Amino acid sequence: MSKEPYYPRPRLHLVAHKGWMNDPNGFSKGFGKYHLFGQSNPDGCAFGRIRWAHYVSEDLFRWDYLGDALVPEEPYELPLGCFSGGALMIAGEMHLYYTGASEGAQRQCHAVSKDGIHFEKDPRNPIIGEKDLPADYLVSDFRDPKALLQDGKVYLLLAAKRRDGDSAILLFEGKDPSSFSFKSEIYRLHNPSGGMIECPDFHFLPGEGRRGILIHSVQYWKEGDRRKWQNIHSNRYVPGTLDLEEGTFLPEGEWEEVDQGFDCYAFQTLRDGERTLAVSWEGMWDRNYPSARDGYAGSFTALREISLEGGKLVQRFPKELERLARSKVHLPGFSGEGSFHLPEMDGNYRRHRFSIRPGKDTVLRLLSGKSHGIEVRFLKEEGELLVSRLGMEESIVEVDHSSSVSRHLLLPEGMESVSFDILLDGTAVDILVNGGRHSFSLLYYPPKDGTLDFRLEGAFSISDIETDIF
Ligand code: FRU
Repeated sequence: MSKEPYYPRPRLHLVAHKGWMNDPNGFSKGFGKYHLFGQSNPDGCAFGRIRWAHYVSEDLFRWDYLGDALVPEEPYELPLGCFSGGALMIAGEMHLYYTGASEGAQRQCHAVSKDGIHFEKDPRNPIIGEKDLPADYLVSDFRDPKALLQDGKVYLLLAAKRRDGDSAILLFEGKDPSSFSFKSEIYRLHNPSGGMIECPDFHFLPGEGRRGILIHSVQYWKEGDRRKWQNIHSNRYVPGTLDLEEGTFLPEGEWEEVDQGFDCYAFQTLRDGERTLAVSWEGMWDRNYPSARDGYAGSFTALREISLEGGKLVQRFPKELERLARSKVHLPGFSGEGSFHLPEMDGNYRRHRFSIRPGKDTVLRLLSGKSHGIEVRFLKEEGELLVSRLGMEESIVEVDHSSSVSRHLLLPEGMESVSFDILLDGTAVDILVNGGRHSFSLLYYPPKDGTLDFRLEGAFSISDIETDIF
């Protein structure tokens, strides 16, 4: 019989079947299922020799582990493993593109599956290596292919470090699914920290031709505003036009953060008919994972449906989530001043939807004890929310000793009422604010036997509250 876990294990998030897991890879739909692969080291709860663990789902929220699709065994994948990449369905077959990481060289590889279960590595691997890379770039930092299909042709976006210290996103063009040549550098970033771009992604907006959203993760990114880029490493996006034939990308406006929470990296998208889905690693490099005591360290964010509204990324939970609720509770709205506990909303596996019009000293507390829990504090004058995770059983300690306790969220000016869609799923929490214009992903490790209860303090008025219980 399996041991009772110490922490409430997420049920609606993809969680590592065993050991360590970082980035989501190969997000795709084929053979009647959604597929996600995780950067996995089942031999321990720390980064190690990496394989692709394969998970499938029919409803985007309940995932089954199918086995390991890619295991490092070839010289070009050793000693570090099979690093991140993407997937494409072409003529009924699933094609995986990934990075073979050996000491001092990162080369691109390809594998194919005819049944969505067994994968065969391409005998021509590595299919892109130093001979294909212009002299401006270093093969030692060259990784994370995102595969795009246009007019029957495969294109790859790749992250690369430049010899001059900058980072770039490169475009490669396929003659066929196994042979590629360098086309252009579509984006260059000067990062004063020297940190590199990782996991590039591009999503074409349905019905908008070449227009879409360019996304990447970036190591050690800092900018002046204390309310932005608060994590050691960040996810960024910018809308723009990507012309794959010309090999150009034209950005529109400023780069923005994908998620303001503590735990979000390596965002990946998938076009699914008329909608676009996205998922991230709900974690971060360079710190501890308390869930290691339960034998795993790694989970992905809840699945999101994304769109662009007024030039800004908007994230919502897909409709599938609604259907998974075991029961629902409806509470009428009210105005209050003081301290209110709403017992109907307590519990570790809940989704709550409501809006708050904050007054003086408004605080929303999802508590599991007197001073433990997740706190959302309205800083009215600053036009900010301050989200904190307090008094965890085991603290999360970042290697650079930056705070892992609080994050600021800047609200649009003059905003009177703030809407929330909160998914509490054991240790994995996703908070969507303002109709999904802000997303806040976080891990929270409650004290033993803690159950989250729902409290409001200060002066406020709250709308009707819709709660789904899972
Ligand atoms: C991003 C990343 C990728 C790399 C992978 C290794 O989190 O560093 O650049 O391919 O993780 O697991």
